[in-house]
Amino acid sequence: MIVCICNNISERKIRQAVDAGATTMPKLRDSLGVGTCCGKCHACAKSVLRECLDDANQAQPMLFQSNALAA
Ligand code: FES
Repeated sequence: MIVCICNNISERKIRQAVDAGATTMPKLRDSLGVGTCCGKCHACAKSVLRECLDDANQAQPMLFQSNALAA
């Protein structure tokens, strides 16, 4: 799905940027240019960012569990 029409930025590109460390809207804006033209995509981009961070946080406890078992 295209999130930012002005800059042709898809949800997938946002997910890749988040995986690469863009964990805030300013960082996403700097790395992809999302929301830098008309700004109408800001809410949708923020929603995708939040989903990505939630997904990452849900995956995180599994790492802690496996580390806890190893200790
Ligand atoms: S749709 Fe993203 S800046 Fe216009």
